[in-house]
Order: sequence, then C-alpha cells, then structure tokens
Amino acid sequence: MNRSATNEPVLVTGGAGFIGSNFVLQWVRAGGAAINLDLETYAGNPANLNELNGNPRHLLIRGDICDAMLVRSLLAQHQPCAVIHFAAESHVDRSIVSPGEFIRTNVQGTFTLLEEAKAYWQALGESRRDQFRFLHVSTDEVYGSLAPDDPAFTETTPYAPNSPYAASKAASDHLVRAYFHTYGLPALTTNCSNNYGPLQFPEKLIPLVILHALEGKPLPVYGDGANVRDWLFVGDHCSAIRTVLEHGRLGETYNIGGNSERKNIEVVRAICALLDELQPAASKHEELITFVKDRPGHDRRYAINAEKIRSELGWQPSVSFEQGLRQTVEWYLANQAWVENIRTGAYREWIQRNYEKREGK
Ligand code: NAD
Ligand code: TYD
Repeated sequence: MNRSATNEPVLVTGGAGFIGSNFVLQWVRAGGAAINLDLETYAGNPANLNELNGNPRHLLIRGDICDAMLVRSLLAQHQPCAVIHFAAESHVDRSIVSPGEFIRTNVQGTFTLLEEAKAYWQALGESRRDQFRFLHVSTDEVYGSLAPDDPAFTETTPYAPNSPYAASKAASDHLVRAYFHTYGLPALTTNCSNNYGPLQFPEKLIPLVILHALEGKPLPVYGDGANVRDWLFVGDHCSAIRTVLEHGRLGETYNIGGNSERKNIEVVRAICALLDELQPAASKHEELITFVKDRPGHDRRYAINAEKIRSELGWQPSVSFEQGLRQTVEWYLANQAWVENIRTGAYREWIQRNYEKREGK
C-alpha cells in the first residue's frame, strides 16, 4: 500500500515542528493527506506549513497529545491509516533546565497516543486493521555515548540514555515495543541521528550558529568542540520514515543516519566558510567562535550504523553533508522573514537563559 497515494489521511503529531513540518510538506506534495495534531509550543510554528494554506489535504489542529479525548475524537472522525508520531520536547539543553515537560509529553503523551491508537485499531474492520501502522519517531541518543573507536550504534546496542531528553525518549521507545509485544499493535520505531535543514528552530547547533554569525554575535561552542554527531539532512530523514512506514517489518526498530560524523568545531567552521562565501562580512566569521562552558553530562560521540534499513529496505541518504549544509545556509539566508518571526519572546528568553552563564570557560 502506498499511503501517500490514497485519500485516507495519516495522523501526524508534532507536524508544526522542524522534522514534522518537513515530513508533512513532503507527504502532501507527494499526494498524501495529513491530519496534523500539534500543541504549537515554542517549537511549533504554523508558518512552517504556509505552503499548505487552503489545501484540503492538510488539516492543522492545535492540541495536546496528552489529551486522550481529543486524540480519540480525531481518530474516530478522520479514520487515519497510520499514526506518525513526531511530537516531543526535543532539546537536550532544555531537558537539563526543566525535565518535567519532557516526561509529560514524551512519556505520558506517547502512552496516551498508544492507548488511543490501540482502541481505534482494535475496532477497525479486518483489512483496515491489517494496513494500520503506528510509527514512532525516536533518536539515537537513547543509546548513550560512544568512545572514539567504538563501533557505531546498531539496533541491538543496549539502551543507555544520559540526558533527561534521552531518558524520556527511551521510555517512550520501550512503551511502543511493549504495545507491539503485548497487544500486537502494528508499531515501528525509527532511531535517527542529528537532523539539520530548513525550518529548524534556532536553538539547535546549526541554525543557531548561522543566525549568530549573520548578526556578528559569538558562536558558542561547548567544551573543547570535539564532541561528534552524525548529521542527516532532514529531507532524507523524512524519506526514510516513509520507507519504514510502507515496507518496515512490524515490531522492528530501524536506525537512520547520514554516515556523516563531524566534530562540532568542524561543523561550525564549515558554516563560517559558507557564510564567508555567500554573505561576506568585514572579518572572517570564524573569528566569532567562542568556546564556552560545557553542557553537563555532554555525550561525546554519536554514530549510526544504518546497514539494516539499507539492506532490508533499500534506503540510503541522497544528500551529502556538504550539499545539505550549503542548502541549509542558503535557506536561512533566503528566508529572513521566517527568521524574524521566530525571534519571539520565547526564543530571546532561552538564548539569555542558556548562554548568559556560559560566557568564557
Ligand atoms: P521540534 O521540537 O522541532 O518539534 C516538536 C513539535 O512537537 C513542535 O511542533 C511542538 O509544538 C510539538 N509538541 C510538543 N509537545 C506537544 C504535545 N504535548 N502535544 C502535541 N504537540 C506537541 O522537534 P523535531 O526536531 O522536529 O523532532 C521531532 C521528533 O524527532 C522528536 O520526537 C525527536 O525526538 C525526534 N528526533 C529529532 C532529531 C533532531 O535532530 N531534531 C533527531 C532524531 C529524532
Ligand atoms: P544540539 O543541536 O543541541 O543537538 P544534540 O544535543 O541533540 O546532539 O547540539 C549538537 C551538538 O552541538 C552537541 O554536541 C552540543 C553542541 N552545541 C554547542 O557546542 N553549542 C551550542 O550552542 C549548542 C546548542 C550545541
């Protein structure tokens, strides 16, 4: 079944956030229909979906995944063929400052969705029940931190979450696993590495550095800048999710990664070099790099072994890190109106809260 070629919608949660909105745009452009449930927290931005204004194949509903009655009524009313669950509190630094919201949305919210999806799925007729899927979008951070020479995370790497964010996502992964094993809910889980690309809220490393550099502000690099992340362009993450949705084996988890391990300092320097070329300033952007106090419990290295999704489902990334980073920098340069809208009170407040005590090391 190609779910993006039918009139049956999917229920997307968190589809006004970074990855969710990229997914919804890709999905509807491909001919699919989506009901989009999003609380529109500081990270949820309906403007990400402006292209779909007036499009009958997309409906954005402002609401909470912890609201069981709302979730139940949306499932009953729209009869989706799948739930694709992105909604989460997603920023590690915020989870260190205020973990409670992470437990509520990521754990309680996922539990609520699972309960409602189970009841809905159990009541479907046989053929629609066979087609139904619950796809849970998770992270590689559940596996903990790697030493420099450790092999990359596979789907059987033991869970060892280190931040409140990672722990809350690990808990949600375990709940999804339990609903498959206990109730047979046709669930799939994806564990993806760090994403970057258009529409990312500028609290995460790449958009934060782009915007600070454009403003001539210090570029804050935590610790020694040698922490490693494995970067994936967001459009490739979305195509991987679509592949797993259509062809993944029920109850399985799939790691998704970009084969692009980079030290943070390399990423920041690459952004500076692109800006020197695309938007030259009086001095080199690199001069703005400032090493600041490290994140507590900062995981040293993440790396994904994406062999399972490649060999079983034929998916691999289509964009190299260099191409994707250039596209991303160009997108932020071309979308200054989006950037200005984002600079709300909530954004300014966070920048002040997270960085004022980090200045210097
Ligand atoms: P994001 O923070 O940009 O977006 C999260 C969205 O969820 C926002 O639109 C927000 O309004 C919504 N939301 C939050 N609480 C909600 C609630 N209670 N009810 C309904 N909606 C709610 O996050 P993102 O970067 O797009 O990440 C999406 C998913 O992908 C998350 O589950 C995250 O764990 C996972 N993930 C992210 C990355 C990454 O690098 N960003 C990598 C791997 C996995
Ligand atoms: P981030 O984008 O927050 O993603 P995650 O913590 O989920 O990997 O951070 C990516 C890396 O960049 C991480 O090692 C922390 C580092 N970092 C900085 O050095 N400076 C910053 O201002 C931010 C936000 C992150």
